[in-house]
Amino acid sequence: MKIDILTLFPDMFDGVFTESIIKRAQESGKVEINFHDFRKFTLDPHLKVDDTPFGGGAGMVLMCQPIVDCLESIKTDKSKVILLTPSGVPYKQKMAYDLSKEEHLIIICGHYEGFDERILNFVDMEVSIGDYVLTGGEIPAMVLVDSIVRLLPGVINEQSHLEDSFNENYLLDYPTYTKPRVYRGMEVPEVLVSGDHAKVDKWRYEQSLKKTEERRPDLLK
Ligand code: 6GU
Repeated sequence: MKIDILTLFPDMFDGVFTESIIKRAQESGKVEINFHDFRKFTLDPHLKVDDTPFGGGAGMVLMCQPIVDCLESIKTDKSKVILLTPSGVPYKQKMAYDLSKEEHLIIICGHYEGFDERILNFVDMEVSIGDYVLTGGEIPAMVLVDSIVRLLPGVINEQSHLEDSFNENYLLDYPTYTKPRVYRGMEVPEVLVSGDHAKVDKWRYEQSLKKTEERRPDLLK
């Protein structure tokens, strides 16, 4: 998979993509991630990428020209173009699965008060990562890339994502424990050390269901 990220702040991605699983996925060629600073595409003599909103109001609005020119320099027939905005479609695990099947993703990060609405004619989808406002699309882009890249074949053990919270069962994860068996007087549930795999599976399923009922009844619909 190839991922191109359009951002005014490519340095913000240092660390997040240069460590751990995402780093290894790039090194082994499972994903190629590139950054494009769309300020380089502005035709404005002062290198401006934003301007005041027509009709008045606070803040600056990103202009179409630098973003669209940058986009057109990398887009092909196979590209899926995603615009990150708090007014987009809510991001869910299902969308991560669907996007992990794509060949080429282009992710556009906004900043300031938003985009000139005409940008929508150049994108395939608008995505939001939740009901809160961030200063820009960079953190949402990291969220998308992380959640998509870990699903690419061979990036992590397949079983790990079959058991993920929010997989097709829409149940939260069951509780897990590791050594020692007793920590500060707190014991690991007996069933997990029983060696009876059928009993363990049943317990885990029940725990998942109970946790989901308590915390996220909305997922059980
Ligand atoms: Cl995609 N962008 C911004 N700026 N804020 C957000 C968001 C995106 N998703 C949730 N909040």
